[in-house]
Amino acid sequence: MTQSHGFETLAIHAGQEPDPLTGAVVPPIYQVSTYKQDGVGGLRGGYEYSRSGNPTRTALEECIAALEDGTKALTFASGLAAEDCLLRALCAPGDHAVIPDDAYGGTYRLFAKVAARWGMAYTPAHAGDLDAVRAAIRPGVTKIVWCETPSNPLLGVADIAALAAVAHDAGALLVVDNTFASPYLQQPLGLGADIVVHSTTKYMGGHSDVIGGALVVKDAGLAGELTFHQNAMGAVPAPFDAWLTLRGLKTLGVRMDRHCANAERVVDLLGRHPNVTEVLYPGLPGHAGHDVAVKQMKAFGGMVSFRVRGGEEAAVGVCNRTELFILGESLGGVESLIEHPGRMTHASAAGSPLEVPGDLVRLSVGIESADDLLADLERALG
Ligand SMILES: Cc1ncc(COP(=O)(O)O)c(C=O)c1O
Repeated sequence: MTQSHGFETLAIHAGQEPDPLTGAVVPPIYQVSTYKQDGVGGLRGGYEYSRSGNPTRTALEECIAALEDGTKALTFASGLAAEDCLLRALCAPGDHAVIPDDAYGGTYRLFAKVAARWGMAYTPAHAGDLDAVRAAIRPGVTKIVWCETPSNPLLGVADIAALAAVAHDAGALLVVDNTFASPYLQQPLGLGADIVVHSTTKYMGGHSDVIGGALVVKDAGLAGELTFHQNAMGAVPAPFDAWLTLRGLKTLGVRMDRHCANAERVVDLLGRHPNVTEVLYPGLPGHAGHDVAVKQMKAFGGMVSFRVRGGEEAAVGVCNRTELFILGESLGGVESLIEHPGRMTHASAAGSPLEVPGDLVRLSVGIESADDLLADLERALG
């Protein structure tokens, strides 16, 4: 498989040659902890112990690297385990990071409650405002600039190429959490980012049945550092989890097309609804990041947030009234989900500069029949 192949071809075949022993067209689940050595140090295919390497995980990592146009992907037991590995591999006590002022609540908690205890400082800045990011950088001390684009749950858009230039001018690395877009819609490494982060739990897995995370890089030195820490820290995915994620990846492209198409129908309905005061979606021409999104994304994704007339209780009421949109955390699965970020996914940011508005509702628009989704929302909005 080479990069000259199309995205869907890579999703189905990269890292997934038919099994040499049996011809099985799908990589087997190597449910194994250790491997026979042919004499001391005589490893077959480089495998010695499944924390260090497992063939099912290798298949997943090769496929993700191909889809993100990277040279190396590393997978983890969760998105946060991937983020933790990244921070501990690349930063030390005394280092500083610039993080988005609308970061995913769990990412914020990792910086605020875990990394801070180990002596790492952070400054929240609006990733869509290059001057704000520049001002937040501490020359010589800032090691990473972090961005999520589109962001969770406010759907903010950051200009990846411009942020990469700002970070690199300061000698820092640009990390992009590409969970919301998925590599089908956006490939940050090609735009200058140094490291891509994924919660593969979301669109990549795509079926709400497995938790996982990934880091992807182009640079060989970074790949070496992260590979060392992946093994030294050990938060790797189980073979079955790697297999489930790989199965999800095969349909990523077709799923994303439907997620995007359904989201556009939902956005259209919300935009006309009297009980909705604002719709947050990068595909809207009035969205502050629309032009950047057009430049760096293939389409605008399946995540939609909106603000409800009547405030927090009204927003909670909408979340409680949908039937097809399931009330639950997470996103990116085939089924539509609804949630109240302030009380659910982003509760850990309450009282911080990253607190989200109480009247906000977040939708993960699934791939069901769009008419059914619209009817459900219309009923819930009243
Ligand atoms: C944008 C984003 N990044 C990272 C994560 C963390 O991933 P995980 O839940 O797989 O640990 C999430 C989880 O919701 C997320 O939405």
